[in-house]
Amino acid sequence: MFISPPFKEILPGWRKSIIDVATRPLLLSTTTHQTNKNLVTVKARIPSSSLGSLPYSLSTSHVSSLTSSSAFITTSATTTIVKPSKLSRRNYTAEKVRCGTSKQVAVVGAGAVGSTIALLTMMKNVASEILLVDKAKDFALGQTWDLADANIVNSTKVRQGTLKQAGQAEVIVIATGAKQQPGESRQQLIDRNYEMLKETIDGMQPIQKDGVMVLVTNPVDTLTLIAQNISGLPRNQVFGSGTYLDTCRLTVYLSDLFNISPSCIHAYVLGEHGDSQFIAWDAASIGGRPLNSFPEIRQLDKETVRLAIANKAMDIIDYKGSTYYGIGACGASICESILRNALNIRPLSVYVKEFDTVLSIPSKLGAKGIEQIMPVPLSPGEHKQLMESAATLRAIGERYQK
Ligand SMILES: NC(=O)c1ccc[n+]([C@@H]2O[C@H](COP(=O)([O-])OP(=O)(O)OC[C@H]3O[C@@H](n4cnc5c(N)ncnc54)[C@H](O)[C@@H]3O)[C@@H](O)[C@H]2O)c1
Repeated sequence: MFISPPFKEILPGWRKSIIDVATRPLLLSTTTHQTNKNLVTVKARIPSSSLGSLPYSLSTSHVSSLTSSSAFITTSATTTIVKPSKLSRRNYTAEKVRCGTSKQVAVVGAGAVGSTIALLTMMKNVASEILLVDKAKDFALGQTWDLADANIVNSTKVRQGTLKQAGQAEVIVIATGAKQQPGESRQQLIDRNYEMLKETIDGMQPIQKDGVMVLVTNPVDTLTLIAQNISGLPRNQVFGSGTYLDTCRLTVYLSDLFNISPSCIHAYVLGEHGDSQFIAWDAASIGGRPLNSFPEIRQLDKETVRLAIANKAMDIIDYKGSTYYGIGACGASICESILRNALNIRPLSVYVKEFDTVLSIPSKLGAKGIEQIMPVPLSPGEHKQLMESAATLRAIGERYQK
């Protein structure tokens, strides 16, 4: 239940009354608005079965409409308006009260990537609440306030949370830590981000057993393997964004080349989210026709395309310092697939027994995380590239097994 500031601050009695009555069994919705400088009106929709329990201060005379299932309560009072700058941190901190249908996404790391994932997940209206967690608490609070302003077009609430609270969310997105500097490879981030990941996962324990953890922090494949080993969750509930972003970059490139909507193009970048990634050209298709049968593709220098996709992040970093919109869209789409149980197939960092490591293979994604790994047919050359990518990642992963 949420009453936007400044009203939450000035209406503690009303807020408590509505919470007492309506969160058990369920508060359906609440809107608050200011009708003039000092007059505040609160409207709440509650189950009509809760009417009998309304306290005197919200008596049935305040019920403006009543159906067999719900009742609207409207009541107002003259009061002092509190300026947002005077709001206490309590206004934007996570509440313990959660209704039965709540779907909470915790985004750990409120920087450029985490906040973009949070914003785009809010826009999809798939979560009831987003918790933003960052060790830089003031920064996270500022990000939370800023994101809450986007609440006008959706019903997802955003609050600052703690690691412990993040451990209880349905979806936990890890977007903390150091990012690449110009000229730095993703794997070079490992030592800086390894300790950060351990600290983050330890701080979330005990993680609720049905939680799904999505790694975004780089190097995403190796950190996913580490998170699978230390989180205590089943492997299928811990995975990374992997080459989903690289695949989107490829799809957008092909969409421009063929002047066809990206949604009609089925093509994957697989293996490492990094230098050894490769494009599964043999399994790619447009409108059911194999991609390799198009003259435009036969004329392509495929290694040049592979390198352009693999190096696109570095090109963006050279120009603007970091990348976050593309991964923001991927992260939000992953959250949506989980919360809607959409069973989409995405190339994600998953543990592949055959290779004894984590790398990107197309995977079916639903409410329980990875429901199935769905390898695609590869040419002998592509298969060799997959083996090389796996060997690279296995060697790095082995250094961090203990
Ligand atoms: N997987 C992908 O495709 C992809 C794409 C882009 C960026 N990334 C990665 O995402 C990560 C975040 O990038 P960014 O641009 O948002 O960086 P950023 O510097 O803007 O934000 C990182 C945030 O993490 C916080 N943080 C650091 N250590 C923490 C800890 N122990 N606990 C809680 N918070 C902590 C920092 O305070 C900061 O707010 C980087 O590792 C980057 O490489 C991944």
